[in-house]
Amino acid sequence: MEFFLDSADFSEIQEAWNLGVISGITTNPSLVAKTGEDFHDLIRRICHLVDDGVAVNAEVMAPDADGMVREAAELAAIHPNVVIKIPMTSAGLQAVKRLDPKGIRTNVTLVFAPGQALLAAAAGATYVSAFLGRFDDIGEDGAAALADIRDVFGQYAIKCKIIAASIRHPVHVLQAARIGADIATVPFKILKKLYEHPLTQQGIEKFNADWAKGS
Ligand code: E4P
Repeated sequence: MEFFLDSADFSEIQEAWNLGVISGITTNPSLVAKTGEDFHDLIRRICHLVDDGVAVNAEVMAPDADGMVREAAELAAIHPNVVIKIPMTSAGLQAVKRLDPKGIRTNVTLVFAPGQALLAAAAGATYVSAFLGRFDDIGEDGAAALADIRDVFGQYAIKCKIIAASIRHPVHVLQAARIGADIATVPFKILKKLYEHPLTQQGIEKFNADWAKGS
């Protein structure tokens, strides 16, 4: 499973990128709004920070397909790394269908059900983002929905990649990996929880103390 970083905070993105384990970045309007930065400038800076080929996801805001396609073309012109996030709506599907032949990659977002994921793939989406945390929040089972999407995609040679999104804790990451999500997009604080472990820290401290005694 690949890891994307779910963040619009540039310094956080720099720090996570330096770990060497990130193959994409996902932003969303709420994350970008928190930064107070100009959206296009932020996307440009992120694209220039990461390697060529790394997916930098930027969301369109227009409610209609024409507006989405227009915004997508502007964002895609920033850098070849840009992937356009498009909400799972009727207009969104139409926009994906129009962007695919132009070679503009898309990530259909706010997906909670296999039917939505199948339609996104049929329209030509490059990625589909299944939200775990937000589904759990309303008493549903985000991991079960992700598993259903993986199952139905497995029935066919669907190329669309499944992103496990709205990840709230390390268990979500493990669930996504067990289910076979292609990618998990993970907030930095969760990424840190994946590599930090109290026993690892204790072990390092003991090794250091023993080394100091012996040398
Ligand atoms: C990523 O593409 C999504 O926008 C993000 O994972 C949503 O996470 P949240 O539900 O914690 O806001």
